[in-house]
Amino acid sequence: MLTGIQHLHGTLRWVVLVLLILSIVKAFTGMSSGRSFGDGDRKRGLFTMISLHLQLVLGFFLYFGKGWAGKLGDPNTMANAVQRFFSLEHMVTMLLAVVLGTLGHSLAKRAADDKSKFRRQAIWFTVALLLILSSIPWPFREGFEAYGWW
Ligand code: HEM
Ligand code: HEM
Repeated sequence: MLTGIQHLHGTLRWVVLVLLILSIVKAFTGMSSGRSFGDGDRKRGLFTMISLHLQLVLGFFLYFGKGWAGKLGDPNTMANAVQRFFSLEHMVTMLLAVVLGTLGHSLAKRAADDKSKFRRQAIWFTVALLLILSSIPWPFREGFEAYGWW
């Protein structure tokens, strides 16, 4: 069960990345072209946010299910780069990214005019993407060879 969840979480990363990049490109081009913010733009932002929420739920299943939560603060865990990464760094940074990514959708929804809607998506989704890129256990990183591309 946890193995399946981990595969799903590992694969969904690509959905998150593609949707975020697409939303960011569309938001910046929308902003500069001055076109109106359509239902497609709102839905793209919504799906981006939903993909982040799904990662959040799956991530917490793994975090508690695989015992990472119990290792938080343990000196031996903190001394090991990979263990510290999953018990602390990945969880905190991704949590922040999900919160900021959610703002990208909900603040855009509340903005008064179309340009502000695009601008809010552009800013918050970009910050979320940078945080996510910094905290993915990319298999090429030293010590993370066991984590695959899927
Ligand atoms: C946008 C958000 C996220 C992305 C893109 C992401 C990405 C990933 C990736 C690519 C893996 C490696 C999967 C593998 O190859 O086995 C992973 C593992 C994991 N992630 Fe996330 N993650 C996100 C959010 C979270 C959150 C919010 C948590 C919450 C605590 C979390 C907890 C974990 C845990 C516990 C593992 C498994 C580590 C292990 O036991 O080996 N993730 N994540
Ligand atoms: C730990 C789990 C979750 C937390 C803490 C969470 C949190 C939130 C928050 C705070 C909002 C309000 C955003 C706003 O201001 O509009 C929201 C909205 C939403 N969430 Fe989640 N969520 C979680 C899981 C999920 C999951 C698993 C899904 C679907 C697969 C999901 C789908 C949605 C949708 C569709 C909205 C409404 C978006 C809108 O108003 O347009 N969430 N969530």
